[in-house]
Amino acid sequence: MSTIVLIGTQWGDEGKGKITDFLAERADMIVRYQGGNNAGHTVVVGDKVYKLHLIPSGILYEDKVCIIGSGVVIDPAVLIKELKSLEDRGISTANLKISQRAHVILPYHQLLDQAEENSKGNKRIGTTSRGIGPTYMDKSARVGIRMIDLVDQAELANLLKENVQGKNNILTRVYNCEGVNYQAVLESYKSYAKVLQKYVTDVSIIVNEAIEDGKSILFEGAQGTLLDLDHGTYPYVTSSNTTAGAACVGAGVGPTKIDKVIGVAKAYTTRVGEGPFPTELYDEVGLYIQKQGGEFGTTTGRSRRCGWFDGVIGRYTVRINGLNCLAITKLDVLSGLEKVKICTAYRYRDDIIEGFPASLRLLSECVPVYEELPGWQEDITGARKLGDLPINARKYLERVSEVAGVPIAIISVGSKRTQTIVTAGI
Ligand code: GDP
Ligand code: IMO
Ligand code: MG
Repeated sequence: MSTIVLIGTQWGDEGKGKITDFLAERADMIVRYQGGNNAGHTVVVGDKVYKLHLIPSGILYEDKVCIIGSGVVIDPAVLIKELKSLEDRGISTANLKISQRAHVILPYHQLLDQAEENSKGNKRIGTTSRGIGPTYMDKSARVGIRMIDLVDQAELANLLKENVQGKNNILTRVYNCEGVNYQAVLESYKSYAKVLQKYVTDVSIIVNEAIEDGKSILFEGAQGTLLDLDHGTYPYVTSSNTTAGAACVGAGVGPTKIDKVIGVAKAYTTRVGEGPFPTELYDEVGLYIQKQGGEFGTTTGRSRRCGWFDGVIGRYTVRINGLNCLAITKLDVLSGLEKVKICTAYRYRDDIIEGFPASLRLLSECVPVYEELPGWQEDITGARKLGDLPINARKYLERVSEVAGVPIAIISVGSKRTQTIVTAGI
């Protein structure tokens, strides 16, 4: 048995969906524990593409139990749509369980997300405008509505009444926009509750019992380490903890129960939304990577900013998450480049910085120190073992591993399940 936490090590979209789906084959249970439908996890099986926002990427295997933990924020309309679209494609969702304690996204959260972003002008975060931040704000402010409240008609009516009053005041008086209609929201959320009721349960009991029974559990993180509320490039972050520790809180299991942490990293770096990004490329190489990698957001369709692999972030993410190993994705995207670069440190004025700075002002002045390596021209999408990779690709991976200070256990050379090389025991 094993319990593995799988997290993103950059700014999200590292390929967590693909690696979760790959590892899910040998797991019994897959658990999403934070974030919401700001996430977009792509799984490709044969010629079919699945884009999952809330449901764990293990759902494509009929025999796996899939859990949405208390740390997730749920937009019921989006979840119902996702359930239906899976069922329409012949995927059973019978094994899905949703935490009673997960918080619910309401229409006023989305309106507030947009209004707050609009009011920030050039300081906007570039959120997904799904209402994620305002929902976590309500959770911290202790006025949120949870799944257990959603499925209790009287409780829902009461909590919603208080919330709509307060939120409409802010929407109309502070942001000068229209509020929401209490009755209309209540009716639609009552109808969502009817559909979702059968999935809602105490998932912490289920996960802990599975651990007791020696089952294999995969905890599927959303977003990435640099979007973490505590450890990311604050304030250009999401509103949840995206790092490995959050798996325990968001699933309701103790830290003593976790065996291993795997970090997913692209062979380069991308970012959607605003905020500093030291290795960002503004030249034709950046455009080449964007085009080869199809770097357009799964959730919002926005183009992703692209840059070289950042080893400073690599080391930081190993420390913050206690990584045992890395899964490197999209190595195939770098094929065809004459040279490839790895950032090993930052130069800040006259100093060389090896650690990832907390100050955004300092970070935005950091210039990457690069190590340049020869590229490779071969198409590597057919590689199935380390020896199939060109020597320069292997040397590149070796340096990535050395600079970050962590072994690489998985290498992905394409979006399909089969396009995966396992180099060490997981
Ligand atoms: P996630 O949010 O971390 O799950 O990542 P996304 O699904 O948002 O974005 C990753 C994209 O890269 C998806 O379109 C995947 O199908 C694709 N992908 C994953 N691994 C690989 C790979 O090794 N090579 C290529 N070319 N594409 C990949
Ligand atoms: P997955 O799980 C990439 C980014 C947004 C924005 C910031 C805050 O697919 O890797 P939010 O709506 O969360 O308040 O937006 O976080 N962001 C992501 N970027 N992948 C994601 O998820 C993201 N989820 C949020 O673009 O910059
Ligand atoms: Mg994504």
